[in-house]
Amino acid sequence: MNDRNILVIDDQEPHRDLIRDVLTASGYAVETAASGEEALERMQRGDISLMLTDQLMRGMSGIDLMRRVRAQKPELPVVIVTAHGTVDTAVNAMKAGATDYIQKPFTPEELLIVVRRVLERLDLVEEVQTLRRRIAEPYRFDRIVSQSPKMTEVFEVIRHLVDLDTTVLITGETGTGKELVAHAIHYNSNRRNQRFVRINCGALPETLLESELFGHERGAFSGATHARSGKFEYASGGTLLLDEIGDISPAMQLKLLRVLQEKEIQRVGGNETIRVDVRIMATTNRDLETAIAAKAFRSDLYYRLNVVRIQLPPLRERMEDVPLLAEHFLRVFGEKTGRALQGIDRGAMNALTEYPWPGNVRELANVIERAAVMAGGDRIMAVDLPVGTTPAHPNAAADRLDLDLPFKEGRQQVIAEYEKAYLVNCLRRYKGNIGQCAQHCGVDAKTFYRKMQEYDLDKHVFRRPDEPPAPN
Ligand SMILES: Nc1ncnc2c1ncn2[C@@H]1O[C@H](COP(=O)(O)OP(=O)(O)OP(=O)(O)O)[C@@H](O)[C@H]1O
Ligand SMILES: [Mg+2]
Repeated sequence: MNDRNILVIDDQEPHRDLIRDVLTASGYAVETAASGEEALERMQRGDISLMLTDQLMRGMSGIDLMRRVRAQKPELPVVIVTAHGTVDTAVNAMKAGATDYIQKPFTPEELLIVVRRVLERLDLVEEVQTLRRRIAEPYRFDRIVSQSPKMTEVFEVIRHLVDLDTTVLITGETGTGKELVAHAIHYNSNRRNQRFVRINCGALPETLLESELFGHERGAFSGATHARSGKFEYASGGTLLLDEIGDISPAMQLKLLRVLQEKEIQRVGGNETIRVDVRIMATTNRDLETAIAAKAFRSDLYYRLNVVRIQLPPLRERMEDVPLLAEHFLRVFGEKTGRALQGIDRGAMNALTEYPWPGNVRELANVIERAAVMAGGDRIMAVDLPVGTTPAHPNAAADRLDLDLPFKEGRQQVIAEYEKAYLVNCLRRYKGNIGQCAQHCGVDAKTFYRKMQEYDLDKHVFRRPDEPPAPN
């Protein structure tokens, strides 16, 4: 029920045990201490979420204990158990900074109510802290992993956009990072302290979408028992991301167009016009130009949205990003789960860089996470990858053998395939440094170079752009 540890302190064993039993029966993890000194010692070892201490004890009192604990851990909730009829002590306990108190004698139910209340508050505090941290941790551009020239262009555009209120249309196949880019623009813009609101236009039926976007007045439709503001109002001062804009109906397109032109809205069922100051971004994985040609999308709305266009290239057009992203997602997985893997084996990396990634970066992220879960050792191996991504897997290779060819020709083909894969692997490893490759293979540089030419391999392809060229 709860992974929090409660430390119960009372110098009288029966009392201690009673409290422990009640809490344990409700699923809490409980430890006990017979004195303030013992409690302090236990505290040193950490992972206590709540202290429940008797006030009247031989030696250190509950309040004294609390003071000592608070000096080290100001955030730790402490509940003081006070004796019957001593309201004074209860008041003193609260004044001294107790999170809560409970008066003897109490029923199990009363005890549980207090504990639950304190832990719920603790949950809330922690939640707020994480949220604050997450929001404050700006969506730095370096969270967008890429080294490909195509993405560098995208970064250039983004950087120009952050201080403007320009409408941005972000296009690209599914999973290419459209939403990520929208976040990055907002959290680096001067609207960063205002809201970033996203609505998935593709997921809602028209009437619902309309009231979600513009809000509605009371009684606007059956079920509208209260007036409600919509996303445009909610995002005022900030940014509104219209996700999957390509999916909205012609009627909604017209309504949106008006809002973008007038910068004011009307709630559904309302007469009042409300001015809104919202930066608009929109995404789509549809080809809007084709949709316009087919009269499925209004061209005037398109021009309003397409003030600046960011087109995210599919991953297969920037394969040099695959190793970088794969390592990135592996690191993220390690941070998330506490299970850090050492890296990705060469065979596995080869398979990853040969797969065309129809689901783009999202698919790669999923594959890495799955492989990290499946990995038996401390590295991701080719066998850990899902079947579809592993053409280099031995069994998959066997499937591709053409056994109907004349023997010599067939053998030659397999050898050629092996040689090429071997060379590529080597070049990748030494980043195009032919001297090192040759040494690794046990041949001289000239032979290695001749083989490369045979297979039409260019050493420059294997250099990392961020590194100086490998000397040869
Ligand atoms: N360049 C990148 N660096 C790091 N993570 C990325 C990158 N591109 C995409 N991602 C991650 O991949 C996942 C998919 O990205 P996102 O949701 O932005 O895609 P999308 O284009 O909006 O997809 P869809 O069209 O399906 O909504 C997210 O978890 C995102 O953080
Ligand atoms: Mg998206």
